[in-house]
Amino acid sequence: MSEYPVNESLKAWEANAKFWDDCMGDESNQFHREVVRPKVSELLNIKADDFILDIACGNGNYSAFIAEQGADVVAFDYSEKMVALAQKRQAKYSKKIEFCVIDATDEQALLSLRRAKPYTKAVSNMAIMDIADITKLFRCVNELLSQGGIFVFATQHPCFVTLTEKYLTAHSYYGIAIEGQPKEQCYYHRSLQEIFNLCFQNGFVIDGFYEESYGIKEKPDVIIVRARKV
Ligand SMILES: C[S@@+](CC[C@H](N)C(=O)[O-])C[C@H]1O[C@@H](n2cnc3c(N)ncnc32)[C@H](O)[C@@H]1O
Repeated sequence: MSEYPVNESLKAWEANAKFWDDCMGDESNQFHREVVRPKVSELLNIKADDFILDIACGNGNYSAFIAEQGADVVAFDYSEKMVALAQKRQAKYSKKIEFCVIDATDEQALLSLRRAKPYTKAVSNMAIMDIADITKLFRCVNELLSQGGIFVFATQHPCFVTLTEKYLTAHSYYGIAIEGQPKEQCYYHRSLQEIFNLCFQNGFVIDGFYEESYGIKEKPDVIIVRARKV
């Protein structure tokens, strides 16, 4: 589906890595703290004995939040600069978080995330809409999870957050996440049915779902989905 190839999107994230890390800091930004984190954390229900995969982790602020609750984390992002910044920022959690440079569109690379034990949970905050192709990701996440394991992801609401007129047809476009970022990034629009069907086709059922808004308004900015491996 992707009109913009993954290397084009990577160029943007390499250019934006330092800006993103500065904006997110240790605690992430207000949007993440108010709109994303509460429901993601409710659905993820982190336990100290969890082993969690953080997909497209950015500067690792949510990995750190997981580690603070005692769980072990493998966190990855395809931007080498972003991962270097994450390792530096989250250095105090180096025994709990393993950071890797992995492209979520590369099946072999994804399967190299297999460790001695399966992941009990996987999470992805505000990145599904940034990933050029998510078909392999959903298949591999299912494979990497333990039976009954969950994949919680938050992504922009495809019905209400877009810069184009198209809804049903998957397509990509350029936009910004944060005012002032050095380079526009590629967004990959997918309809709700495309996202949900990808869950169902890859052995998940959806057993948790929220639509969240920034501030008080009727049209939500974000969907938060819990997919459970069956
Ligand atoms: C909007 S940021 C979110 C980062 C982090 N999850 C957070 O909530 O702060 C999107 C992230 O997706 C990463 N990304 C985009 N496409 C990717 C891909 N194909 N593989 C791995 N990471 C990717 C970007 O480098 C960026 O760090």
